Amino acid sequence: MTSLSAKDIRQKYLDFFKERGHAIIASASLVPENDPSVLFTTAGMHPLVPYLMGEAHPDGKRLANVQKCVRTQDIEEVGDDTHDTFFEMLGNWSLGDYFKEESIRWSFEFLTSPAYLNIPIEKLAVTVFAGDNDAPRDEESASIWKSLGVPESHIFYLGKEDNWWGPPGKTGPCGPDTEIFYDRGNGPLNGDGPDTEAGRFVEIWNNVFMQYEKLDDGSFKPLAQKNVDTGMGLERIAMALQGRTHIFETDLFADAYNKVKELALVEDEEAVRVVTDHLRTAMFMLGDGVRPSNVDQGYILRRLIRRAVRFAAKLQIPEEVNVSKEVVEVFFGVYEGVYPELEQHREVILEELRKEEEKFEKTLDNGLRHLKKEIEKLQQHAQTAGSDLIAGSAKQPTLPGDLVFDLYQTYGFPLELTFEEAEKMGFGVNEEEFQQNVEQHQSKSREGAAQKFAGGLSEDTPETRMGHTATHLLHKVLRDVLGDHVEQKGSNITPERVRFDFSHPDKMTPEQIAEVERIINDVIERDLPVTWETLSLEEARAKGALGLFEDKYGDQVKVYSVGDFSVEVCGGPHVENTSEIGAFVISKEQASSAGIRRIKAYVGEKAKEVLASRS
Ligand code: ALA
Repeated sequence: MTSLSAKDIRQKYLDFFKERGHAIIASASLVPENDPSVLFTTAGMHPLVPYLMGEAHPDGKRLANVQKCVRTQDIEEVGDDTHDTFFEMLGNWSLGDYFKEESIRWSFEFLTSPAYLNIPIEKLAVTVFAGDNDAPRDEESASIWKSLGVPESHIFYLGKEDNWWGPPGKTGPCGPDTEIFYDRGNGPLNGDGPDTEAGRFVEIWNNVFMQYEKLDDGSFKPLAQKNVDTGMGLERIAMALQGRTHIFETDLFADAYNKVKELALVEDEEAVRVVTDHLRTAMFMLGDGVRPSNVDQGYILRRLIRRAVRFAAKLQIPEEVNVSKEVVEVFFGVYEGVYPELEQHREVILEELRKEEEKFEKTLDNGLRHLKKEIEKLQQHAQTAGSDLIAGSAKQPTLPGDLVFDLYQTYGFPLELTFEEAEKMGFGVNEEEFQQNVEQHQSKSREGAAQKFAGGLSEDTPETRMGHTATHLLHKVLRDVLGDHVEQKGSNITPERVRFDFSHPDKMTPEQIAEVERIINDVIERDLPVTWETLSLEEARAKGALGLFEDKYGDQVKVYSVGDFSVEVCGGPHVENTSEIGAFVISKEQASSAGIRRIKAYVGEKAKEVLASRS
């Protein structure tokens, strides 16, 4: 086996596929463009979805790249040998060009050829799809593996849970896959499939035969085009080639990991790995323009930074040490020349990390103060009553669940800390009551989400139609005036007024409000026709339609156009002509929640009255 640096592995991979006719494409941003259904790019195929569905890619039918990816669903696993929240995916694609034969042969050649990775065949094991009602057993892939010299005892057939990949959202391209594992152990395989939990096998590469589309109803429709989508995790293949027991020892992590170890005053292997991992991911997110906030991508970033701070505290890294700066500076070196966006945003990345850490320190101080005050109250209450009024047994009083929930929800105080602090003060926590509070809150937000895009549709009057068309204009104009970060977060239309919530970090200026009103009134005056058509999701996307929310995904969507001014996915109903709206004014612009603004507006006669009273 050849020990290669991560840099060499990337280069060899791209060279290999370039020699085999692949165009090398750039890594897309971690923040998916035009796809609000997934927060981060989770695989190299993600930015290629339209091309996997049949659109022509400008660079041809064979593509390869190294893609930045973030997956946070396994965040709790970080700390083991192979999990990270950010990773680089080496991928090659056939868009209706080659299929199983070449895909498997090339993977095998790249892994085992002395000119490339030179991994001994016996260190590899593979799985193929066992077959079910949706797609047949993949004997074809198995026989290709055999023809290449992989012994039968190293080939396993597994079901959909293991050998089916995609789509990243609810619907989209997907298919059976064959996965390649690296065996870190010795001796014969015991006949079971590669059990990655047990630690002997590490999944290193996945070849997906993307020939189905998953539809809204959960069924699978064959795609006209048979594609190949592969992905190999750089951190894991580096771990195998560099003979390391975990990814943090590879040259991608080692310097930063050792830096955290050096700064730590106590030993805690898991905490060292978590701090190293989370700061690296936060750095890449910040490099792609994400900023800490309470919604969407920003929320995940905030969570990662705060988790890193918590684990750094576990390591007793002294507060005066700027741990994120120390660690991220090391990573800047590791990725120099590979991801220039990091170098370009160096100052912002460091500044945002520092700011978020400070905010979190304040949160912790406030939460702690509140907790202490509440505990004192409970104690006093118990004393004046002369009995044990505090819920729970006399031996250990417990904190009421709503207090714990309030700390968590309103103060942003981590639950784990509440437990620790309560214990220090001789209190337990009423977990059951806390859980009840969480569940109540969750079901409320679920209802909120379900209503999010349905507001105002139930009533159909001339006024609500006017309001409805006005919200399409408003959505479009807000994006034009404030920027593309504006996304509809909800709307509610009554015959009296329009309410529209959208993402935007700042209060709108009077100039911006005036500008939005001016443009909308201009469109109203232009007497534009409002028309609709049924389009496939891809056609809607290609038209640049707004409102492609996850819960509207389906094969076909209804798309409303206002002349050539706005295109939006929507159920209607609308006016037939913009002139019917009469006039539009904004009566209020205010905060709705963190990062979300709310506009209240009038249309028709009411709007005309307001306009008249202004002049
Ligand atoms: N898209 C496939 C994966 O992420 C290759 O595993």
